[in-house]
Amino acid sequence: MAYVVTEPCVGCKITYCAAACPVEAFREGKDYLVIDPDICINCNDCLRECPVNAIFPEDEVPVMWKDWIVLNAKESKKFPMINDLKKPLLDKDCNIKEL
Ligand code: F3S
Repeated sequence: MAYVVTEPCVGCKITYCAAACPVEAFREGKDYLVIDPDICINCNDCLRECPVNAIFPEDEVPVMWKDWIVLNAKESKKFPMINDLKKPLLDKDCNIKEL
């Protein structure tokens, strides 16, 4: 089981998660990040860092975002690795709890 990035990341892409990941499991798409489930060690570091609560353990992904489990698995094999902070995208109202 791995952690999963979900819909709230889209258009926000704050990248705190990627900088916190100790095993370089994050991959960068244009509007959001995903996690490679073959690399994730379920350490919880990314989940704590995301200010929009976009990351869930696979078995706790809300029903409306379940398709993100497969999306993370597939797209993580195509996207480039990201392991550091980038300027947040923030091209929508991200309802950030802290930044
Ligand atoms: Fe997205 Fe949250 Fe990471 S918005 S890029 S999952 S810190």
